[in-house]
Amino acid sequence: MAKKKTAAPKKATKAIAKTGKTRPAEKERVLITGAAGFLGSHLCDRFLKEGYHVLAMDNLITGRLKNIEHLFKREDFEFYHHDVSKYVHVPGKLKYILHFASPASPIDYLKIPIQTLKVSSLGTHNLLGLALAKKARILVASTSEVYGDPQVHPQTEDYWGHVNTVGPRGVYDEAKRFQEAITMAYHTYHGLETRMVRIFNTYGPRMRLNDGRVLPAFIGQALRGEDLTIFGKGNQTRSFCYVDDLIEGIYRLLKSDCADPINIGNPAEITIKQFAEEIVKLTGTKQKLIYKPLPQDDPMQRKPDITRARKLLKWEPKVSRAQGLKITYEYFKSLTPQELYEKDHNTFEGYVRK
Ligand SMILES: NC(=O)c1ccc[n+]([C@@H]2O[C@H](COP(=O)([O-])OP(=O)(O)OC[C@H]3O[C@@H](n4cnc5c(N)ncnc54)[C@H](O)[C@@H]3O)[C@@H](O)[C@H]2O)c1
Repeated sequence: MAKKKTAAPKKATKAIAKTGKTRPAEKERVLITGAAGFLGSHLCDRFLKEGYHVLAMDNLITGRLKNIEHLFKREDFEFYHHDVSKYVHVPGKLKYILHFASPASPIDYLKIPIQTLKVSSLGTHNLLGLALAKKARILVASTSEVYGDPQVHPQTEDYWGHVNTVGPRGVYDEAKRFQEAITMAYHTYHGLETRMVRIFNTYGPRMRLNDGRVLPAFIGQALRGEDLTIFGKGNQTRSFCYVDDLIEGIYRLLKSDCADPINIGNPAEITIKQFAEEIVKLTGTKQKLIYKPLPQDDPMQRKPDITRARKLLKWEPKVSRAQGLKITYEYFKSLTPQELYEKDHNTFEGYVRK
């Protein structure tokens, strides 16, 4: 038996020597959860471009296969249709895990609060366990929502936040806060290599037009010839980061040795009213701005302090809002009429309690 085992590889080596060819080096493998979503799909593109073999995982609850269908023909890309809140296993080695699975827009997580809580708690626990078993480094997607409706401005990483645990947004905010706590516990207790990115509002192609976030909402209304809806007086602020800048920041963070949370976002702050006016100008719509009551616990101010990212990652955003909005508008213009008028992405039937 032992002889047979050694004989075969020798022949193979000779064959390689004869043809002068060497076996191509095995690609390092990375697991990306939430891969069919807005950010996950851009991460897949980036890691394939960097020469990794990508294992993409998603249960498609808020994502779409359309975002990654251009990758299915590749040999260095695999898709797993799986809910990460259940036990997660993938065969073979893993170098990195990027956990991006989670509903991310209020319109989604208010309809599926329990799934939202589960994916960042049970899901994160499953993926930390997998990282430990595979000796992989894991990066988890946290959010500026861990700061809640902040009383410190701009938000630095050492600000602990102001969150209403039992308010409607608590299901998302608290799940992400738990995610950070358990990730840090795996780092300190098990010595696992962990990274945490606190993502501030990000936009770009492949966002869902109907996901309820302000940028696609305004552009969708302009494209359909509807008035643009502002919630509250429009004096609340947001800071928008273009997706390519965010992906670069995440890539640098993954490769860094920083286990503490890092803000990645664009500090260029703007009021929602000013932003609506920019969209009116960009799209040339003749529609009006209309005002509706502000939803409960909607944060009044959002602006990242990115001193830590500048210092440790040598990162800062490069794409101006004018450039990023132009590219994003072109993407939304290319959608089919069916996509433009689609009300719900997912009825969440089977998830929602009747
Ligand atoms: N886009 C932003 O501005 C932003 C800001 C802060 C944080 N984030 C975080 O980034 C991540 C991605 O956000 P996004 O904007 O791409 O949202 P998205 O809804 O487009 O993508 C999330 C993806 O996760 C998948 N998913 C959800 N639950 C799952 C589960 N249990 N198992 C497997 N897959 C599941 C969805 O189907 C979807 O494809 C989220 O963790 C979100 O909290 C995003």
